[in-house]
Amino acid sequence: MDAEVLRARCAKELESSPRGYFGGLSWLRNAFAAVPREHFAPDRLWWPRPGEDGLYALIDRSKTPKRWLKAVYLLRTPLITQIDDGAVAPDAPASGAFTSSISCITVVIETLRHLAPAPGDKVLEIGTGTGYNTALLAHRTGPDTLTTVEIDPQIAAQARERLEALGVRARVVTADGEQGFPAGAPFDRIVSTASVRRIPTAWLRQLRPGGVLVAPLDSPAGYDLTVRMTGTGHGAAAGRPVATVEFMRLRGQRTPQPHTGLGWPDGIDMQRWREFEIHADQNGQRIRAGRVMRGRGRDTVSWQESAL
Ligand SMILES: C[S@@+](CC[C@H](N)C(=O)[O-])C[C@H]1O[C@@H](n2cnc3c(N)ncnc32)[C@H](O)[C@@H]1O
Repeated sequence: MDAEVLRARCAKELESSPRGYFGGLSWLRNAFAAVPREHFAPDRLWWPRPGEDGLYALIDRSKTPKRWLKAVYLLRTPLITQIDDGAVAPDAPASGAFTSSISCITVVIETLRHLAPAPGDKVLEIGTGTGYNTALLAHRTGPDTLTTVEIDPQIAAQARERLEALGVRARVVTADGEQGFPAGAPFDRIVSTASVRRIPTAWLRQLRPGGVLVAPLDSPAGYDLTVRMTGTGHGAAAGRPVATVEFMRLRGQRTPQPHTGLGWPDGIDMQRWREFEIHADQNGQRIRAGRVMRGRGRDTVSWQESAL
């Protein structure tokens, strides 16, 4: 089966998926149909679950092209593109910490649905990875609207190349995305594809009032909550979790910290994550159990993006 057929089949499956559905948004369906995911996936990838030998199997396009393409178009499986910050060469099965991936399709679509960018919006993306999500975003917002920040120089360079080869006009910056990109602020939308323990204050300062920030936030339950927050001005934002995920951590926030020091109340009932309210400003973040939200749709299935 060729890539276009697989992409069309994925699009059809997404319509009835409990996660990652298009939600009736034709721009999102069109972007998914237009962007060749296989163009962004590196030729050698690791499968994200260990085999009996405890190693992550390598999928090599040159050796098993059909298997590689099928893996790239799996809806619910992120594929690992870097282990231990690049210390492990992608030439054999390996073990180690996942540090970059091509995110799984359902999580990508779900995140973009919550971000809801409009044509012409100025967008900041943190964690470029392969550039696949960048290309989907640019398809919606248009040329020269998007800045994407990647901390790893080699990953950034590859994404830049892949985006340019497709004619996608986005600014790829090699830098620590925790600082955002002050020169491009204010942004209408900020999205992170690396998870945080604390919403960086730079992102809050660079989000315009009324703008939307979507990021995976670590929780006391051990998984992340995708939070959707609206800028309220003066470097602050407020919002709610919209989904559960597990993402790789932003490099500067890998070290665990007690959740009570991160604005989480002691003993919060994680079963009720949909009711949480999140407020973040230049002094820190506060999470509290809010009022009950009923009939909030289908985002109820808990699962993993990929764990670091
Ligand atoms: C889950 S991957 C992104 C996947 C990407 N959305 C895709 O589908 O190709 C997370 C990325 O965030 C990057 N990253 C981690 N910390 C970062 C930081 N402080 N600033 C910018 N990028 C960072 C990692 O190097 C990695 O490439």
